[in-house]
Amino acid sequence: MGKFIWLCQIRSLLLVLFFLSVVGCCLGLSISSLKPTPLCLPEDASAFLQFKNTMSIDYSSYDSSCYPKTSYWNESTNCCSWKGVNCDKASGQVFGLDLSCSLLVGSLSPNTSPFRLQGLKRLNLASNDFNASPIQSGFRSIPASIGNLTKITFLDLSLNEFEASLPTHVTGLQNLNEFFLNDNSLTGGITSWPFTLPSLKYLDLSNNSLTGPIDKIQKPNSVQEVYLAYNHMHGEIQSSFFNLANLIELDLSSNNFSGLIKSDMLLKLKNLETLVLSSNNFNGAIKLDVLSKLKNLSMLELSHNKLLSLSSDDGVNSTFQKLETLYFSSCNVQQFPNILRSAKSLRYLDLSNNAIKGSIFKWESEEFWISNNNFTGEIPPPICNLTFPQILDLSRNYLGGIILKCLGSSSYGSRIINLQKNIFKGKIPDFCADYNGLINLALNDNQLEGPLPRSLINCTFLKFLNLANNKLNDTFPRWLGALPALQVLILRFNRFHGLLNISGDIRPSFSSLQIVDLSGNEFNGVLPTTFFQNLNSLKHARNLSELVQESDKEGLTPLYALHFYDQVSVNVTWKKSEMELEYIRTLPIFTAIDFSNNRFSGKIPEAIGELRTLEVLNLSHNSFTGNIPPSLGNLVELESLDLSSNNLSGEIPFQMTKLTFLEVLTFSHNNLVGPIPHGNQFNTFENDSYYGNLGLCGFPLTKQCGNGEGSKPPAPKRKEAKGSPVAFIWKLVMMGYGCGVVLGLSTGYLVFTTGRPWWFVRMVERYWKPNVTRWICRIRGKRNKH
Ligand SMILES: *[C@@H]1O[C@H](CO)[C@@H](O)[C@H](O)[C@H]1NC(C)=O
Ligand SMILES: *[C@@H]1O[C@H](CO)[C@@H](O)[C@H](O)[C@H]1NC(C)=O
Ligand SMILES: *[C@@H]1O[C@H](CO)[C@@H](O)[C@H](O)[C@H]1NC(C)=O
Ligand SMILES: *[C@@H]1O[C@H](CO)[C@@H](O)[C@H](O)[C@H]1NC(C)=O
Ligand SMILES: *[C@@H]1O[C@H](CO)[C@@H](O)[C@H](O)[C@H]1NC(C)=O
Ligand SMILES: *[C@@H]1O[C@H](CO)[C@@H](O)[C@H](O)[C@H]1NC(C)=O
Ligand SMILES: *[C@@H]1O[C@H](CO)[C@@H](O)[C@H](O)[C@H]1NC(C)=O
Ligand SMILES: *[C@@H]1O[C@H](CO)[C@@H](O)[C@H](O)[C@H]1NC(C)=O
Ligand SMILES: *[C@@H]1O[C@H](CO)[C@@H](O)[C@H](O)[C@H]1NC(C)=O
Ligand SMILES: *[C@@H]1O[C@H](CO)[C@@H](O)[C@H](O)[C@H]1NC(C)=O
Ligand SMILES: *[C@@H]1O[C@H](CO)[C@@H](O)[C@H](O)[C@H]1NC(C)=O
Ligand SMILES: *[C@@H]1O[C@H](CO)[C@@H](O)[C@H](O)[C@H]1NC(C)=O
Repeated sequence: MGKFIWLCQIRSLLLVLFFLSVVGCCLGLSISSLKPTPLCLPEDASAFLQFKNTMSIDYSSYDSSCYPKTSYWNESTNCCSWKGVNCDKASGQVFGLDLSCSLLVGSLSPNTSPFRLQGLKRLNLASNDFNASPIQSGFRSIPASIGNLTKITFLDLSLNEFEASLPTHVTGLQNLNEFFLNDNSLTGGITSWPFTLPSLKYLDLSNNSLTGPIDKIQKPNSVQEVYLAYNHMHGEIQSSFFNLANLIELDLSSNNFSGLIKSDMLLKLKNLETLVLSSNNFNGAIKLDVLSKLKNLSMLELSHNKLLSLSSDDGVNSTFQKLETLYFSSCNVQQFPNILRSAKSLRYLDLSNNAIKGSIFKWESEEFWISNNNFTGEIPPPICNLTFPQILDLSRNYLGGIILKCLGSSSYGSRIINLQKNIFKGKIPDFCADYNGLINLALNDNQLEGPLPRSLINCTFLKFLNLANNKLNDTFPRWLGALPALQVLILRFNRFHGLLNISGDIRPSFSSLQIVDLSGNEFNGVLPTTFFQNLNSLKHARNLSELVQESDKEGLTPLYALHFYDQVSVNVTWKKSEMELEYIRTLPIFTAIDFSNNRFSGKIPEAIGELRTLEVLNLSHNSFTGNIPPSLGNLVELESLDLSSNNLSGEIPFQMTKLTFLEVLTFSHNNLVGPIPHGNQFNTFENDSYYGNLGLCGFPLTKQCGNGEGSKPPAPKRKEAKGSPVAFIWKLVMMGYGCGVVLGLSTGYLVFTTGRPWWFVRMVERYWKPNVTRWICRIRGKRNKH
């Protein structure tokens, strides 16, 4: 299985489907010379036309994937040949109408809508704009006449921005199998009738504004999948709900449900495979020994319920057979549940952000993600006996002692190791001495000493190395330049010293580097031109699809990566203040060079001007001399430039005014002279950008230049800021692929932009390999973070 997949918006899939249907249609035409296309019934045709005429088309949202199907309908042709219309081959009766993503705007009224077509079996009106629903009996509601569709099996009204309530009661819909109303603006209480429709298997009401508790369910049906996540529902889950005994997947996350979760009650849902209750207000103790009786349970997501805890009766001889995922982050767990040790299928365990105390010794192994608790003590040697945990995340605890040697060896084989923010001491062990699978290594914010282990040269796949805030004492690790994948190198605030003497090196060197942070060390000497000439990935922007392909090769599951990246952060200067940027948001696009707070001297190399994708350049607090190279004016992506506290002289090159994305500029405390250039961004910087350069004159300084140069410029004209890095990712994704909703996948990070993973899940289930769905489902709980 390809562990990384590219998922695009449903529209693109629809486009593919549309393409297929066009092809199918052509084939149909050639066959039709043998067998005539059935003629559609006149009453169906007139109902369609009437519907078409009550709708308008919003061409402004026309794009490669949404197009106005109804505008191609030709009254003088057989309606069975119209786009989106499917007829029975024998009788000519219309059984399917697919007008999803057809740019329709209007209201669905009981009389004009396709709800009149009683023979319809499949109706898909997703992704239009039926917001303007009519007012019925004083309030907006979806027409109860949908109940007239007694033959319908598939009904999709998702993504229409309906600002309406559910009809209070609907009869009919006796055959409805799959019902999608997700991603609208449905308001009001949730009525119980959908849970009583006799044939219903799939119900998606997620991402609306539904309120209230769930009504008592009088006559529970045999629904298997229910999604109510991302609503405003509250109250307790009534016991009648647990009579939906056929449930396989239940997602109530991101609501405000409360009340005691009784483990025994959940046992009634004996087929349950996936239970997602995260981000609510549930309380109580989840008895894992009781839940282990749910033999098919494979995913349990309960994170972000701050009153919920775990318990297990260790006297009971029970075990989870199929449990793969247990997310219990940010709850109130105080003890590690022993039953999990025998859960042989468990692969994803998140107990981070709880209140688990004590020594890690007690639990030996099996847990990989215990970050952000209050673990103390040393890592116990039995952890070496874990077999190939892809991720080891012990970050943000109080773990001390040395880092065990085994963690760096092949028998361990981790791809991601995150030990950041602990109190580990001693030398870094020999990572990659006998294997090369490591991709990310975060050891920052510890008390590590000594030189870097030379074995790191063997980490052929290493992408991310964060060693910031330790006491490492070494010269510049020029030999890391041979690592072909290294994208992020962070050595800030250590005791690195000496020259960046890279000139004799075999090229390419550091050719994948996008973020290099050497700040706060004791480096000195002149910056070698060759160092910058070699930074190929800062010269050429790479596109996302390249990154995706790369990630594919790594075979790292995105879920793992997502969790990890969530916790690993890089500090960079962004918009005037030191801000913690999450690595997840920065890696693929963000680029930075920070050499500040060292003792570098000599000229700033012209060659930096070749790094055209650079966004942040900080060379402050060094001893650079000479002029500011005019070539810096070529760094057209630059958003932040700090050259302060050096010995730079000469004038500010006018070429700098080409930097139209520049938001932060600091030249203060140098020996610069002459007029400050004006134009573009330069009209927006204030005095503090130039402090401590006695020879500078002109706007914004009060000191006038002798010849009238640098006088006050016209009203500042500022280009629109690019916004946050996150927004930029969105933009890039959209530009690159024309997908409104995207899972941007690169190096194992995921960006949900307007995020409707339910759709993805469904699409995947239908059109992609089934086992790929698993991790997509799991991502859901994370979305609210982004
Ligand atoms: C509608 O179909 C008829 C008969 O095939 C054709 O003559 C006419 O041009 C079509 N009209 C449009 C607007 O395509
Ligand atoms: C359709 O449904 C409405 C409301 O439920 C009902 O009043 C009407 O009689 C139904 N029409 C038909 C043709 O069944
Ligand atoms: C959620 O419910 C609790 C009481 O259970 C209430 O205090 C809180 O304000 C509610 N939050 C929201 C966002 O409605
Ligand atoms: C569990 O899953 C298996 C295999 O998919 C299925 O046969 C069985 O009916 C499910 N339910 C229970 C309660 O075991
Ligand atoms: C628990 O189950 C295991 C294996 O099924 C068995 O060997 C053991 O004797 C059982 N222990 C108790 C206390 O029932
Ligand atoms: C961890 O310990 C710190 C300091 O001892 C305390 O402030 C914090 O509340 C503890 N956190 C948890 C989750 O127990
Ligand atoms: C690892 O497991 C083996 C047996 O599987 C055992 O002999 C050894 O002591 C264990 N090592 C540690 C460090 O626990
Ligand atoms: C790199 O790996 C090879 C083969 O596993 C090994 O022989 C060599 O000692 C390693 N180099 C370092 C510096 O550890
Ligand atoms: C760094 O290590 C060298 C020996 O390798 C030692 O002489 C020097 O004092 C150390 N520097 C610091 C700042 O610890
Ligand atoms: C690079 O400089 C360091 C000291 O800064 C020195 O130890 C090392 O030998 C130099 N290497 C080369 C190739 O010049
Ligand atoms: C980033 O900076 C903030 C504020 O200065 C600090 O709290 C945080 O620990 C730093 N994070 C890293 C990874 O250095
Ligand atoms: C909910 O739906 C709206 C569109 O109706 C979309 O913009 C938003 O991103 C969705 N939110 C989630 C959490 O899926």
